[in-house]
Amino acid sequence: MSTMESLIGLVNRIQRACTVLGDYGGGTGDNAFNSLWEALPTVAVVGGQSSGKSSVLESIVARDFLPRGSGIVTRRPLVLQLHKTDDGTEEYAEFLHLPQRKFTNFAMVRKEIEDETDRITGKSKQISPVPIHLSIFSPKVVNLTLVDLPGLTKVAIEGQPETIVEDIETMVRTYVDKPNCIILAISPANQDIATSDAIKLAKDVDPTGERTFGVLTKLDLMDKGTNALEVLEGRSYRLQHPWVGIVNRSQADINKNVDMMLARRKEREYFDTSPDYGHLASKMGSEYLAKLLSKNLESVIRSRIPSILSLINKSIEELERELDRMGRPVAIDAGAQLYTILEMCRAFDKIFKEHLD
Ligand code: GDP
Ligand code: NA
Ligand code: MG
Repeated sequence: MSTMESLIGLVNRIQRACTVLGDYGGGTGDNAFNSLWEALPTVAVVGGQSSGKSSVLESIVARDFLPRGSGIVTRRPLVLQLHKTDDGTEEYAEFLHLPQRKFTNFAMVRKEIEDETDRITGKSKQISPVPIHLSIFSPKVVNLTLVDLPGLTKVAIEGQPETIVEDIETMVRTYVDKPNCIILAISPANQDIATSDAIKLAKDVDPTGERTFGVLTKLDLMDKGTNALEVLEGRSYRLQHPWVGIVNRSQADINKNVDMMLARRKEREYFDTSPDYGHLASKMGSEYLAKLLSKNLESVIRSRIPSILSLINKSIEELERELDRMGRPVAIDAGAQLYTILEMCRAFDKIFKEHLD
């Protein structure tokens, strides 16, 4: 692994540890850990309902594990941490709310997301801002923290409170307002870009477009005789980063259980053979998007090294104080966790410093 890879991996682990610990001091949550969490980059998908957000996330991860479909399927935020492993272990997933259980069957992961969503919201069309935390450990992923969110809507439907439109927007904003959030703004190619909820929101929270990646899905569903070159070549709406076009699985593909690898091959073939997009083929598709994001994350982390470093040091001090207060050595779980995170912070500090030299 490169230094940067291990650095991002460590950022991931610290974010995870911060989540596990929560407000470990029993305080107001106003501790160095929370500031650290806020300083570390995450990637959130935003867009209208059924624009293909969950599908794009799945493609980035190259695993089938998210509930997808028409209508409101994603009803709680899903905070997904990808950890790249290189120790030869089989890939697995783990939920924060089920720490003892290793999932190796990703169909079960999807089921658990659905069940856990229902546990809070009931089997309804209601939403909840309480996130589900999921980690995936795999040699095939890039180190990233991704957040899947409910889609922006325009009207409340049967069974939803009138406030749902605002509630969803407020929920999405709590993630994308943060300057550390990289926005994956998803718009479907079969709708006019001028009506895109994703671009509207991204423009509002990131007017310069420096942390927004425009993603155009459903290229395969455009009317015959039309193409998306105006958007993909940045003439319709200019962003700092290049637009990426995507072809996800259709509902028919999902119903037929078309697997991820076949879907990726079909997507690649679509671009390679497309008369419209052939010249852009190497900069299109889910695999390219995943690489682009990872590269961007690296440069963001690099630019934040000094401020992250000082927060890490603050966290180390807080941990030392907390351990003193508990009287060390502590055998109980909380104490063990504090030691673990302290060790991680030190490792982090060391790698960062080496990186600066
Ligand atoms: P979300 O609501 O934004 O999370 O969207 P989903 O990922 O759940 O997708 C909504 C529906 O659109 C599903 O039936 C997908 O199969 C379909 N879909 C998403 N992206 C594409 C695409 O690029 N092409 C086609 N044909 N269908 C897509
Ligand atoms: Na949907
Ligand atoms: Mg979704």
